[in-house]
Amino acid sequence: MVAELSPIDRAKYVASRRSVDFVEDGMKLGLGTGSTAAWMVRCLAERVREEGLKVTCVSTSTRTAALGRELGLKVVTMDEVTWLDLTIDGADEIDPALNLIKGGGAALLQEKIVATASDRMIVIADAAKEVATLGAFPLPVEVVPFGWKTTQALIEETLFSLDVSERSSTLRLQDGAPLRTDEGHFILDLHLQRIGNPRQLALVLNQIPGVVENGLFVDICDVAIIGHADGRVVVRDISSGQADESRVDLTQSGNIFADLE
Ligand code: 5RP
Repeated sequence: MVAELSPIDRAKYVASRRSVDFVEDGMKLGLGTGSTAAWMVRCLAERVREEGLKVTCVSTSTRTAALGRELGLKVVTMDEVTWLDLTIDGADEIDPALNLIKGGGAALLQEKIVATASDRMIVIADAAKEVATLGAFPLPVEVVPFGWKTTQALIEETLFSLDVSERSSTLRLQDGAPLRTDEGHFILDLHLQRIGNPRQLALVLNQIPGVVENGLFVDICDVAIIGHADGRVVVRDISSGQADESRVDLTQSGNIFADLE
């Protein structure tokens, strides 16, 4: 069945499959959001079912919580655990220092809280998410609905003093209306093309009234697991500087497709 997946889904699947090797019995885990994270949740649920692993999970979105529970995972609230051992999540872009753009799935606020509250964060992705410099993917910024146009104007004005290549922004829509995040906020997507200084931009954006959080994850991610359609997986650890390559057997998919049938 894995062999029948599109090349991009095979790459997401193998990264996910490798990532759950880092999960140990008794861990408190953060579960990310998005299509890659959904593969990871399936792979994790399979380990829990087959090995009797006991893990407690906190989800970064209502979508992931629903999938996790459907697959039999124990999903609790962040306040029930406070701190986590490990978070595994996807990303929209990953730079060589493992700085990330996240929020393509509008879950960046909960994702950042959960990742920051974890001893370790692993990002999982297909190779297309690796970039030399962040910014081609529009940077999501979560804003309060009250006065959002003022917040947008302040953001665009602020961008003139920062090292980015373009400075426009758009309100994210869903079915013709402003998209609402799980927390009831709006998302502004910043079209910057190139972010010269992600750390500075992340700090400055969060000073603007109305901004709740931005999708730049700087110094949060510890390990990147990059999947390829042919089954190759590269694990890059930022603290050791090591990159290890292994291979996931594409003929062994176990029961992870049960919920898809
Ligand atoms: C959701 C996210 C996702 O992790 C990111 O958008 C990647 O999604 P996908 O795995 O579907 O490509 O940040 O807010």
